[in-house]
Amino acid sequence: MATKKESSGFAKDTLNGLSAPNKFLHPKYFYDEKGSKIFQEIMHMPEYYLTRAEQEIFNKQTQHIARELLNGSSPFSVIELGPGDGLKSKILLREMNGNTGNFQYVPVDISEEALESLSQAMESEIPDLNIFMKAGDYFHIMKELHNASDDRKIILFLGSNIGNFMPEEAASFLSLLTGFLHPGDQALIGFDLKKPAEVVIPAYDDPGGLTRDFNLNHLSRINRELNADFDLNKFKHRPVYNAESGAMESYLISLEKQTVNVESLNKTFDFYKGEPIFMELSKKFDLEEIANLARKFGFRIQKNFLDSRSYFADSLWKKQ
Ligand code: AVI
Repeated sequence: MATKKESSGFAKDTLNGLSAPNKFLHPKYFYDEKGSKIFQEIMHMPEYYLTRAEQEIFNKQTQHIARELLNGSSPFSVIELGPGDGLKSKILLREMNGNTGNFQYVPVDISEEALESLSQAMESEIPDLNIFMKAGDYFHIMKELHNASDDRKIILFLGSNIGNFMPEEAASFLSLLTGFLHPGDQALIGFDLKKPAEVVIPAYDDPGGLTRDFNLNHLSRINRELNADFDLNKFKHRPVYNAESGAMESYLISLEKQTVNVESLNKTFDFYKGEPIFMELSKKFDLEEIANLARKFGFRIQKNFLDSRSYFADSLWKKQ
């Protein structure tokens, strides 16, 4: 269930996006109850290589990652932004917890329910893990935690979530991150790597149509929460991948000229036949771009952990 604050943000952002000359919707609104469920299913599809590639990194290289993170005996915090089901971080936390009890795990998520079920799962698997949940927007929580303690901080931002930011959003996220951390603090960030279209496209255009349903659910959410009358049969899902830039873009295309009424906004929106709504960027990176980003925002790359096919990188950054 969306909170009042969240739903007014949803109304405002939907109005902005559908009124723009090139229509767009913000991908953070994919994840209502139904969308989160579809995303879980996407992560289990054979075509969605990202999950397994990153899982392999954690399964095979956790000891190595933990060694790079553990440093001396002073207390520290592991702050995970958007932990999801925590399957990857759990492996790392178990390893770290076996070596030292001197840290707290701070999962940060917009959804309190998601945090509750994550902590229950973590507690049953790692009973003596020190968990301190924080519900809210990453940007606000980072500001809040900034002054809370001087403990060393390790940020986990896994799962290629950074790829869903538009370049200017990624820049504001990374400048906030660098302002939040002190020299010597670390960030482990998941990046999906550039690879041929034959591998990337099926992950975002699966034969079972889950990714299509994931995108169409955004329109259903507008219907449900903002009293709109989008006819889902009149939109088609279209993924476009530019292998050179690594931009994997998802669109919904209007199949005919139509007008959609969004009652809660007191507005109608006209679509021409073939008009796209830009739904999401899922950016793929190369190691040079990652290094440039790290440098630009005041970090040094401590180590890149790649899976055996070099599909995915968890890049460990140290604040300079
Ligand atoms: C959450 N995020 C990293 C996913 C991605 O791959 O961009 C969201 C997604 N969209 C379609 N399929 C998965």
